[in-house]
Amino acid sequence: MSDRKRILSGMRATNPRLHLGNYEGALRTWVRLQEDHKLYCMVADYHALTTMGDLPPDLARNSREVAKDFVAAGIDPERSSVFVQSMVPEHAELHLVFSMVTGLGKLERVPTFKEKKDDLGEGRQVSYGLLGYPVLQAADILLYRPFGVPVGKDQAPHLELSREIGRSFNAAFECEVFPEFVDIINEDELRSKLPGLDADESGTLRKMSKSYDNCIYLSDTPDETAERIKGAFTTPTKLRKTDPGVPEGCAVCQYLKLYSPDWEAQWDEDRQGVRGCMQNKKELTEALNEFLRPMRERRALLDDGAIDDILRRGAEEARDFAAQTMRDVRSAMRLV
Ligand code: TRP
Repeated sequence: MSDRKRILSGMRATNPRLHLGNYEGALRTWVRLQEDHKLYCMVADYHALTTMGDLPPDLARNSREVAKDFVAAGIDPERSSVFVQSMVPEHAELHLVFSMVTGLGKLERVPTFKEKKDDLGEGRQVSYGLLGYPVLQAADILLYRPFGVPVGKDQAPHLELSREIGRSFNAAFECEVFPEFVDIINEDELRSKLPGLDADESGTLRKMSKSYDNCIYLSDTPDETAERIKGAFTTPTKLRKTDPGVPEGCAVCQYLKLYSPDWEAQWDEDRQGVRGCMQNKKELTEALNEFLRPMRERRALLDDGAIDDILRRGAEEARDFAAQTMRDVRSAMRLV
């Protein structure tokens, strides 16, 4: 077995396509970490069900497509285990065990639970699974006894609860099965909250999100990317090239900062009114399509057969590790 430090992370399979915000907020870090860590990259399909109640989408397709985006983004299946949560039944098993050492009050106080519960609105059933969401996440993580878990800031409460669950288990069964792990939080303001292509009613940029329909998808074609950038939000008072721009509040300028080596000059010219939004859009399209090119090339090689193969091997490898943890869990609990 590899002696590299282990890292576990996951993404919910709520949508079949990942966008640039998913890349900048998470995948970019995973790709970097896999250089000197053993990475377990999980598509969380059970977690996708917690908010979908009675109407699950085509989950198998979502999982496959998300896994394709992982690999297209640069996760190397030869170095890292790419797998789907439900293919490793130990996740469900450890979730059950952890549910015995987790207090209800703690779960009810988790901020994401309160939010999701409110989102569901009156009259919709709040499932036991939704309340248990962070318990399942704790199982995802602790099965691999990782050194660290890379996530966005919004996940910090889940990681803290996961640590507490690990400690509770160790205390309850007087063992050291679950060592502590560290949070690897994405602190890059722009990348971790990558703005979408639009703005809210007050003209402020907002996060890239499927629900706002303001995304650049990793699997878009170059023409689709160009089309989306054409419609992107720019300084609303900059009607002509000679009007001064405000790059801080302009979606196109924000992306230029990430993908164009010349962004500082471009921002200056935008501010001074010697450069128009059309030119910004044209140059961003070129830079972004160049950035996405290797992802598109890798994705073109991935048909369903290839990704199924990667997922099968990934799950086997993950299971090898997870099964050992479960043997230790059973022995600590004195289960038969
Ligand atoms: N809750 C995470 C999110 O919404 C997804 C997730 C599930 C996860 N299991 C995980 C993240 C384990 C890190 C580790 O983004």
